[in-house]
Amino acid sequence: MSGTSPVSGTSPESGTAAGRGLLIEGAGAIATLQGGLRRGPSQGQVELLRGEDLTVACWDDKIVAAGPADDVHRRIVAAGQSLESFARVDADGGLVTPGLIDAHTHLVFAGTRELEWQLRAGGAGYLEVLAAGGGILSTVAATRAASDRDLLAGARQRLAEMLACGTTTAEAKSGYGLDTATELRMLAAIGRLDAEGPVELVPTYLGAHAVPAEYRARANGTDAFVAHIVEDELPLVASQAIARFCDVFCEEGVFTAVQTARILAAAARLGLQLRIHADELAPSGGAELAAEMGCLSADHLAAPSDAGIEALARSAAGARPVVATLLPATSWFLGKHHFAPARRFIDAGVPVALATDLNPGTSPTVALPLVMSIACLEMGLTPAEALCGVTINAAYSLGIGDTIGSIEPGKQADLVVWEVSTVEQLPYWLGTRPARTVVKRGRVVFERG
Ligand code: NIG
Ligand code: FE
Repeated sequence: MSGTSPVSGTSPESGTAAGRGLLIEGAGAIATLQGGLRRGPSQGQVELLRGEDLTVACWDDKIVAAGPADDVHRRIVAAGQSLESFARVDADGGLVTPGLIDAHTHLVFAGTRELEWQLRAGGAGYLEVLAAGGGILSTVAATRAASDRDLLAGARQRLAEMLACGTTTAEAKSGYGLDTATELRMLAAIGRLDAEGPVELVPTYLGAHAVPAEYRARANGTDAFVAHIVEDELPLVASQAIARFCDVFCEEGVFTAVQTARILAAAARLGLQLRIHADELAPSGGAELAAEMGCLSADHLAAPSDAGIEALARSAAGARPVVATLLPATSWFLGKHHFAPARRFIDAGVPVALATDLNPGTSPTVALPLVMSIACLEMGLTPAEALCGVTINAAYSLGIGDTIGSIEPGKQADLVVWEVSTVEQLPYWLGTRPARTVVKRGRVVFERG
């Protein structure tokens, strides 16, 4: 944005209504992330507005202008609005960014799995624990047994922490029910939490997260479970309009690429958008499938094949790129020192997003700033590349890059004022919660106490 933008268009004729306008004043820098999806070199080219007294103006739930205070004020007055009608937030020299977007979470679950973490530290593999009925299946047992009230309470607590870390939008998956009643209960919980706000949630149906015990006992249990998902569960989920995406854990020993394709094709026919847990532990054809099926996102990608990377690169060069949503906290927590080849993706022109993968088994964290730190330290991203990964590229991975993820006039006013004043210091202060003020849809929803 060239300094400022006109207030007109998203503003009313006069600014007399109280409480509709908000000015964030005195920012030391604004990272706008404007200009759409970023891939290749543009992933790291985060232009900053810099100055003494930078301002972002919001009206109702939209951003109307950003730039030097004088310019922004002039625009507001020229649009016939009174500056007095705007509430004010003092950024005190801090960095202002778009609200962070967590494009991959398993927000709703019951129970914890710290014992399994210790088993893994003793050498047990993640899929071994799952095959023995632990792992995802132990969270499934706890989630099925939990009341709605307890599921909601746990998720609310995590959402409050996410907000304090600067997250204003998050994807949230089902997948710890693995039976129709609990899957629907999880999606209903996500819908309710989204309605409560302030963190906006994008619901994903992940009925194919693992094969539940009831089907494991049967011959061809996995195929029978896939048939149940395609024939019974997906149509119900679609008819209730409680999920925007369908996801599948496509991995050796979980669901094959063929089974994944069958589920995703059925989901697409029902109007759902697609994403995949792809190639997390071993090359399983997930990246290739994501490109072939027009998924908006392929997630994890810690072990893609060369052909998978090439397929994503080809899709990135086309009209509907698949975003590679990388989850470095998961690789870190699994202790394998095996991270997604982020630099190869960026060099190949594949747009990269970053997410927490918040879940009780492999990534018990809500903190996107920490994920940025791990991405910089372990995958060699620059802080600017990482910031792009948790803002505009994350928005595109959720199919909402035209409404959130950057500071541009007309976009939803989701903003964070940080304690720090540079992009580099966001991932630098390890494990802190550096958000000072968080704005969602033009309203202050968090202030550091
Ligand atoms: O994204 N990999 C599959 N699903 C989750 C982990 C879920 C769990 O272990 O409970 C993930 O890492
Ligand atoms: Fe996941």
